[in-house]
Amino acid sequence: MRGRLVVGNWKMHGELAATARLLQALKAALTPVEGCAFAVCVPFPYLAQAAEALRGSALAWGAQDLSEHDAGAFTGEVSGNMLRDFACRYAIVGHSERRTLHGETDRTAGAKLGAALRSGLTPIVCVGETLAERERGDTEAVLARQIDALLQAQGVGALARSLLAYEPVWAIGTGHTATPDQAQRAHAFIRGRIAAADAAIAADLSVLYGGSVKSSNARELFSMPDVDGGLIGGASLAAGDFLAICAALSQR
Ligand code: 13P
Repeated sequence: MRGRLVVGNWKMHGELAATARLLQALKAALTPVEGCAFAVCVPFPYLAQAAEALRGSALAWGAQDLSEHDAGAFTGEVSGNMLRDFACRYAIVGHSERRTLHGETDRTAGAKLGAALRSGLTPIVCVGETLAERERGDTEAVLARQIDALLQAQGVGALARSLLAYEPVWAIGTGHTATPDQAQRAHAFIRGRIAAADAAIAADLSVLYGGSVKSSNARELFSMPDVDGGLIGGASLAAGDFLAICAALSQR
């Protein structure tokens, strides 16, 4: 059976004392749930703190990005092996904010997927259309292009060791959550596209939904057959909200 996950993406939020409180609150309240995994992807400077605070807990941790290179003269970049030094399990790859604000492309997402796997990390690769693309009726074409680029770069076998996240750009940070039906359709399309390359890998692949998930809508979204959990931005910054979303996954 596919694993179900809730992953927090803190983005560029936090300061040392507040992150200590948040990590402690999550650690104290979360207990292991059969078939479910929980994680937070924190800013790079807080990885040591997360590793220290969360070791032995039901909450794993990861990073929000990594370099496509393994080592070298790449000022400001962070490699997958560096993330493994802090016992990261996950690395987000190709988030729409990296794509739109930092010039990342389908090519870099494919390269970073490979880099994460080489370091033994589980990549969480993000795909999703903009509002303009959805309004033009191009949602499936955009998802197909993004998925095909991953398949072409790393082969379908890479997705056996990865997670995908469908994050419609118009739903991120806007409060306009995709309806469960819109999410289900996109997730089914993504799974179908991968199934054309390998049906077994597609059936086992966990596909998370991200974009304005809250405690009030999580349960409905997670009840859709192809939605295997969530990638949570804003609501992952408050312990009570994030824990309620984790509970919604456990109750599915
Ligand atoms: P919000 O939950 O704040 O909309 O962010 C979603 C996201 O981008 C997670 O990666």
